[in-house]
Amino acid sequence: MELLSLNSMFCMFAASALIFFFSPIIKLFLTSARRKIPLPPGSLGWPYIGETFQLYSQNPNVFFASKIKRFGSIFKTHILGCPCVMISSPAAAKFVLLTKAHLFKPTFPASKERMLGKQAIFFHQGDYHAKLRKLVLRAFMPAALKNKVEDIESLAKDSLQSWEGRSINTYQEMKTFTFNVALLSIFGKDEILYREDLKRCYYILEKGYNSMPINIPGTLFHKSMKARKELAQILAKIISTRRESKLEDHNDLLESFMGDKEGLTDEQIADNVIGVIFAARDTTASVLTWIMKYLGENQSVLEAVTEEQEAIMRLKEESGEDKALNWEDTKKMPITSRVLQETLRVASILSFTFREAVEDVEYEGYLIPKGWKILPLFRNIHHSPEIFPEPEKFDPTRFEVAPKPNTYMPFGSGNHSCPGNELAKLEILVILHHLTTKYRWSIVGADNGIQYGPFALPQNGLPIILSSKE
Ligand code: HEM
Ligand SMILES: *[C@@H]1O[C@H](CO)[C@@H](O)[C@H](O)[C@H]1NC(C)=O
Ligand SMILES: *[C@@H]1O[C@H](CO)[C@@H](O)[C@H](O)[C@H]1NC(C)=O
Repeated sequence: MELLSLNSMFCMFAASALIFFFSPIIKLFLTSARRKIPLPPGSLGWPYIGETFQLYSQNPNVFFASKIKRFGSIFKTHILGCPCVMISSPAAAKFVLLTKAHLFKPTFPASKERMLGKQAIFFHQGDYHAKLRKLVLRAFMPAALKNKVEDIESLAKDSLQSWEGRSINTYQEMKTFTFNVALLSIFGKDEILYREDLKRCYYILEKGYNSMPINIPGTLFHKSMKARKELAQILAKIISTRRESKLEDHNDLLESFMGDKEGLTDEQIADNVIGVIFAARDTTASVLTWIMKYLGENQSVLEAVTEEQEAIMRLKEESGEDKALNWEDTKKMPITSRVLQETLRVASILSFTFREAVEDVEYEGYLIPKGWKILPLFRNIHHSPEIFPEPEKFDPTRFEVAPKPNTYMPFGSGNHSCPGNELAKLEILVILHHLTTKYRWSIVGADNGIQYGPFALPQNGLPIILSSKE
């Protein structure tokens, strides 16, 4: 989700209120003097600008790694007007996301809230959050996904066919696939009618995600807000059509949202539908792009995956079984699953998340003052040589042994962890099945660059040429 990226400039709102920036510093000074608990080590840099420049002028991971080397696994810094504490040990991540999660609330820039909708799941804690989470999980748990495998498979086959013989931008094409899977899981098959309209509006909306929140005609933000309104109108139409038809067996996210006896308003439903599309599309598409890169670079890993997938295909043909993939088939892919796990570790596309301390919190003898941001650095945990030896090496066999608790969090941890992780894994395995058994691809240009923003991706979205094996 790009809302977790640095580019989202989660503290821009502070720019308009320098006063508010100084007051926590003064307050914190008083608080820590009173309580005599030291702040974590680290430097806060210049007023307001803080260490933003150091962070943005390079690969952000270099910034984090050099800080960790200098100050240890917990350190303070100051980015875009916000004092923050960054943490990179499994124990500290557990403390913030799991055991003391009630002391740390989710935090996002105001403009992001306006675009996604204030009522979307990410922004909430407590009862409303628990209710939404229950409804989302109901639609994305294995029992619900089992019925979707065939439809996901046909989306995967259509995508691959449309790329055949062409030079494509892997990331852009994967985004189309993951968008279609997201719509399928939200609306079921019926709403295919609305796909192009939803896509057109969503693509305008997303252009404004990182824009300045100035709502006057002509600005990106304005266009985006208009597209958002149109999206809400399309959703309202779908909802009212469903209410009239009263067919109760859609078995998708919209039904889960609509069917709840406590009753969500149409606006709450719209905010969460847009939120799920947002959370589902680019994340899954970038993981798929990284997998294509790692498989394309390591012949022996690619061969092992291909053999595993061909064996599944042969077995189905021999047994005269239905040739379509089913849920059980996707559970017989241990090698491919480890490739996915290792890709999630090495690429760590959500390299960190944000929380905000709701009160003064003490951790390991350090004070985390109320109002400060706290960033669990997933990527640094995933790249720690003590936890994952030779961390920069892509080696799926390391997952033959399960990772230790709290050392591997590609989907986060605790009450806000990813409710879509089963769907993400499913759609990735399904498209890899067809990709490796029927196609070959080569990467165009030996460009090993990485682009940042919103999250790490192979340079230019990984241009490839795909051709059929036959
Ligand atoms: C490989 C792809 C994906 C990755 C790596 C990923 C990762 C994550 C992570 C790390 C979080 C937690 C953020 C935090 O704690 O601040 C999260 C939250 C979330 N994800 Fe995913 N995600 C992926 C795909 C999906 C998909 C396919 C869906 C929807 C079907 C989805 C829906 C959500 C939602 C709704 C949340 C917010 C949960 C809450 O606040 O309670 N994600 N995701
Ligand atoms: C996590 O969710 C559960 C169930 O909704 C709730 O009982 C618990 O209080 C939540 N924990 C935190 C720290 O919010
Ligand atoms: C490919 O992966 C295997 C298994 O993880 C590893 O041993 C080998 O060194 C890798 N080869 C290359 C060329 O990276």
